[in-house]
Amino acid sequence: MGWSSTPWAELARAKLDHALPADQARLVEVQVGDARRLPELLADLSAQVDLVVTSPPYACDTGMIDKPAWQAGQPLCPKDTLNYSRDPANLGRARGEGWRAGIGEVLAGCAHLLRPGGLLVTVTKNTRRDGRLNDLAAATVQLTGQAGFEYLQHLVALHAAIRDGGLVARPSFWQLTQTRKARARGEPAHLVVHEDVLVFTKPLRVGAGA
Ligand SMILES: C[S@@+](CC[C@H](N)C(=O)[O-])C[C@H]1O[C@@H](n2cnc3c(N)ncnc32)[C@H](O)[C@@H]1O
Repeated sequence: MGWSSTPWAELARAKLDHALPADQARLVEVQVGDARRLPELLADLSAQVDLVVTSPPYACDTGMIDKPAWQAGQPLCPKDTLNYSRDPANLGRARGEGWRAGIGEVLAGCAHLLRPGGLLVTVTKNTRRDGRLNDLAAATVQLTGQAGFEYLQHLVALHAAIRDGGLVARPSFWQLTQTRKARARGEPAHLVVHEDVLVFTKPLRVGAGA
């Protein structure tokens, strides 16, 4: 489920059609809607779902890099790619308490859809800005607890390529830039080169979560 912009939904559909045999691809439905309204959008799935995998926005500035345009004097990221959407309601634009409230609604909706014992997997990333680390992994653990989930596992997904049998770090351009700036200011910053994959479960007994 994605935000209201259909290019991403169309891309998801095209990827599914590419990756799956036709008889399986036919079974998959791509729906577009606001993930803060999951109980309404998927009302017939209440307490039926085994697994939810979600990667909500990371509460940081983002955009699609267009290097040739940038070399020709244009902005590095075209405006319509900034923070996923120009729509102020897109959670990609939310920061601080607004982000926490929005993600809290998404997680409450996930809890509503999952069957007891069902799994929630979130993909998130700690980012750095102006020398400060935004610990989204910790925030996600806290918010899922508030939504009634139990924490199971933290997996580290490296941003790396394998070259000549060894791992080569592939950090994001933004993280590299922020870390270089912090080090130039004399701050001993580490470069974040991974995403945090967090696994939670909806407790079997009501009220058994945090
Ligand atoms: C961190 S990205 C995840 C991208 C995804 N993992 C992928 O590979 O395409 C967050 C996504 O959430 C979308 N989004 C933001 N607010 C949303 C909302 N209220 N409901 C559904 N999707 C939303 C953004 O538009 C963006 O595509």
